Amino acid sequence: MSSLPETVEKEFNIFFKKTKTSKEIYEKTKPLIPFGVCSNYRSLEPYPIYFKAGRGSRLYDADGNEYIDYNLAFGVLVAGHMHPKLTEVVEERIKNGVILGFEYEKIFILAELLKKRFNIDMVRFSSTGLEATLHALRLARGYTQRNKIIKFLGMYHGSHDFMLVSTKPNIYAAGHVKRPAKVPSGPGVSKAALSEILIAQYGDLESVEMLLRENPDDVAAVILEPVAMNIGVVVPSKEFMKGLRRLCDEYGVILVFDEVKTSGKLYHGAEEFFGVKPDLKVMAKAIAGGFPLSVIAGKKEIMENYGPGLVPHAGTFNSNPLSIDAGIVTLSEILTREAMDRTIKYNMELVKAYEDILSDAGVEHHVAYFGNSATVFFSEKEIRTWHDFLRYQHVGKWWAYFVAMMNRGIVPTAPGYDEQWTVSVQHTEEDIQKTIDALNDVAPLLAEKIPDFKIIEAF
Ligand SMILES: Cc1ncc(COP(=O)(O)O)c(C=O)c1O
Repeated sequence: MSSLPETVEKEFNIFFKKTKTSKEIYEKTKPLIPFGVCSNYRSLEPYPIYFKAGRGSRLYDADGNEYIDYNLAFGVLVAGHMHPKLTEVVEERIKNGVILGFEYEKIFILAELLKKRFNIDMVRFSSTGLEATLHALRLARGYTQRNKIIKFLGMYHGSHDFMLVSTKPNIYAAGHVKRPAKVPSGPGVSKAALSEILIAQYGDLESVEMLLRENPDDVAAVILEPVAMNIGVVVPSKEFMKGLRRLCDEYGVILVFDEVKTSGKLYHGAEEFFGVKPDLKVMAKAIAGGFPLSVIAGKKEIMENYGPGLVPHAGTFNSNPLSIDAGIVTLSEILTREAMDRTIKYNMELVKAYEDILSDAGVEHHVAYFGNSATVFFSEKEIRTWHDFLRYQHVGKWWAYFVAMMNRGIVPTAPGYDEQWTVSVQHTEEDIQKTIDALNDVAPLLAEKIPDFKIIEAF
C-alpha cells in the first residue's frame, strides 16, 4: 500500500481498525471454510467483512458498525431488510410449516401475479438464479433439439458449468473484441460444457450473427441480461435488442432474458423497456423479498415441454411455501408500482449527485443507470463491453472509493468493481442525503493520483 497517497492509506487504516472483529472471525473461519466464505464473490483481501443483522435500509457488521446498504445482497433486497409486511407473513408461515413435500395450495396465486406483471404465459419455480438459467437452457435444448448456447463475454448467469465460461476473463484471455475468447472461469469447469458454448460481444449484433452463420442448425438459445448488471450497468441499444429478436427468429433460436437482477429494477423488469419479448425469461433475487425463489417463465408452447417424460425439472425445495408466500406479499404489497417509482426517483437523485460531485472534484467518471440501480465507473470512457471495462475501469480508484464510503457508514455497492448500487423501498430521503454528504467528503480523495492495477484473475 506504500504507493498510495497518504489520505487514501489513512482510509485503509481506519477501515482495518473499524473491522477488527471481522479479522478475528476470519482467523477462526479460514481453517474450516476456504477463504472464509461460502460464495467466492464474498471473498475480500485481506479478510472478508462479516455481518450480523439487517434492518430496513441498514446493515450491521460484526463490530456493530452501522451502514446504509446499497449492495442489498447483490440486488436481492429491493424490499429492504425484513420489510414489516414480509416479516408478518413469514412468521405466520413458520407456524404452519415451511415445506410440505407436496405442491402448496397457493402456487397459482404467485403464478398469476407474475403473469400479469412480466408478460409471460406459464412459469415453473426453483430456488436460485443458477437453477433458473440451468433449467431454462435445458428447456431450450429440449424444445429445439439442438445443443449450443450463445452467451456474451463478461456476463454472469450463475455458478454452473454451462455458464461458467468467459464470465470475467482478464485482458490477456478475453480474446479479440469482434471474436471474444471462450475460456473456462476456473479449474474444474467441464470441458464437455465448454464445447457447447459460443461467446459473442455484448451490444454487437454482428458478433452474434457470425456465430449463427457458422452454426446454423446447432444453436438452441441465446442468453443475455437485457441490461447488463455484471460488467457494471450497461444499457444496450434498442436496435441491438430488436436485432437479436430478429436473428433468433430467423435461425429458430430461443431468446432467453436473464432477468435475475433486472426484474427488480423496474416495475415490469427490462423487457418492457425494450419492447422486445423473449421466448423464455428467468427471474430471481428481488421477487421474494430475500427468500430463495427463482422463476423460469415464458411462452406456453415452450414451457409445456416440462413434465414427466419430457424435459426434466425437479427440486426438493422448489415452490416451498415460505418462498411462495414471501413472493406473493413482495410482489403484491411491497414492490408496488408506487414504491418502485420512489426507488427510481431516489436513484436519479443519487445519479445526479454523483455526476455533479465527481465532476466538480475533477474525478474522471461515468455513471450508468437503469431503474433503481446504477454503477459509477472510474473511467475516461463510457463502458459498453467487458473489453471496455478491462481497459478503462480504474480499479485502484474504485477500491479507494469503496473503503472511504464504508468508513462513512455507506455500503456503496457489492464489494466488486463490476457491480452496481440499488435503492430499496425502505431507503429514505435522509439516507440519500447522508450518502451524498459522504460522497462530497470522499470525492477530493479520488482526485488524487491513485495507482491503478489491472484485473489479473480470470473468474
Ligand atoms: C444475471 C444473473 N443471473 C444469474 C445469477 C445467479 O443467481 P444465484 O446467485 O441466485 O444462483 C446471478 C447472480 O448474481 C445474476 O446476477
